[in-house]
Amino acid sequence: MPTAEIRRATETDMPALGAVHVAAWQWAYRGLMPDTVLDAMDAGRRAEGWTRLVREGTVPQPHVAVIGPEMVGFSHAGTSRDHDAGPQTGEVTSLYLRAHDVGTGLGRRLWEAALDQLRGSQHTEVSVWVLETNVRGRRFYERMGLVPDGAARTEVLNGSPLAEVRYRAPLAGTTH
Ligand SMILES: CC(C)(COP(=O)(O)OP(=O)(O)OC[C@H]1O[C@@H](n2cnc3c(N)ncnc32)[C@H](O)[C@@H]1OP(=O)(O)O)[C@@H](O)C(=O)NCCC(=O)NCCS
Repeated sequence: MPTAEIRRATETDMPALGAVHVAAWQWAYRGLMPDTVLDAMDAGRRAEGWTRLVREGTVPQPHVAVIGPEMVGFSHAGTSRDHDAGPQTGEVTSLYLRAHDVGTGLGRRLWEAALDQLRGSQHTEVSVWVLETNVRGRRFYERMGLVPDGAARTEVLNGSPLAEVRYRAPLAGTTH
């Protein structure tokens, strides 16, 4: 079996990235948000959204995990847009694997690629927003050295309120 490679995404990756995005939400968030939200997700629309973002150049390119020709996960990071964050605060906005590839170490490699990018762009801390009910995700971030910083928010997705909590760590103190 070919080994996994982590690399920067290009625009031609966006259809596969949209598909991984939807597949990951549908396995990981089933039961954590309404089925109607998950079943209405559309890989093509996600791909268009990512393509637009990346073309505008206002956010960095995601990192993707590929095994041979197949994309199996991705991560994305940039400067936090939280109102209480300064320019030194980075945020990992996305970290997703296909169900099949969870527990293989690829989540950590995608995380580290995002952190290296943030370190390289003068960020000194990292934050993430995670669904309050996402126990697996929260455990992963805790293993990576992040702690809840007390911030909470409610996002409304297709009319459904979703509670999120924020985790944070100095970049010097995160697992590498
Ligand atoms: C968050 C997510 C990417 C983390 O992935 P993960 O599989 O838990 O993390 P890793 O790929 O680093 O795998 C770690 C596990 O694999 C095991 N493992 C197996 N082979 C390994 C290897 N070669 N190297 C490292 N770890 C390995 C580790 O022991 C560890 O097991 P443990 O959890 O029992 O300690 C993944 O769970 C996911 O996509 N979740 C859905 C989306 C989500 O919730 N995202 C975060 C919120 S936005």
